[in-house]
Amino acid sequence: MQNTVLDTQKFVLANWKSHKTLEEAVGWLAEVGPLGTNSPYEVIVCPPFPFLYPLSQEIRAKKYRISLGIQDVSPFPAGAYTGAVCVRNLKGLGVKYALVGHSERRNYFHETVQEIANKVTQLIEENITPIVCIDREHTIAQANALEGGERKRCLVLYETVGHIGTGEVEDLPSVLRSVDEIHHAFGFPIPVIYGGSVSDTSRDFFMKHEKLAGVVVGTKSLDPKEFAKIIQ
Ligand code: PGA
Repeated sequence: MQNTVLDTQKFVLANWKSHKTLEEAVGWLAEVGPLGTNSPYEVIVCPPFPFLYPLSQEIRAKKYRISLGIQDVSPFPAGAYTGAVCVRNLKGLGVKYALVGHSERRNYFHETVQEIANKVTQLIEENITPIVCIDREHTIAQANALEGGERKRCLVLYETVGHIGTGEVEDLPSVLRSVDEIHHAFGFPIPVIYGGSVSDTSRDFFMKHEKLAGVVVGTKSLDPKEFAKIIQ
């Protein structure tokens, strides 16, 4: 695949959304952290912002093979933007990846394709890899909103709202059709990760397919024991 951020390793990304207390977050890492070393995948955890610092300290101290990601970022640089967390605020925390444009952000926070493109620009300036979330509806508009050179620095998370948190995964042929549409819209075979109700039993459908670069796990990432089964 022609992408500067992807090597041969596939990704398993835990998206906690707005779940967990500090104590639960630290407890999760104590269970999952040691398993990262033996995982064949790059394991990424995207906690809520307040847990980034303690988790990054722990990952460093224990040398866990787990990467840190964020679930969103400000479309603006550092400045007078009350309540926003910008890329500069993340310096020193070891954040490697950032989800942008998750369907929950588009639906509940009314984010536009241009705002999401602005977030991508911010992230690339700080060398954080954007994971641009899209469903079929937004594929073409989102690809067009991104500048050509920036597209090459991104990954795509493909998911449909109808499958998130429902326990039902999208069938593989339908996912693969979307992957082709995404490649066409982006103009090259950008790595695509699948998300939407992935569990330990459905993981292999997506993980084993050469056209997919990994999976994003929401609900089943919350319980460390469930998540451990997915990364093994
Ligand atoms: P889910 O969430 O695994 O609970 O469907 C996936 C996501 O929205 O990131």
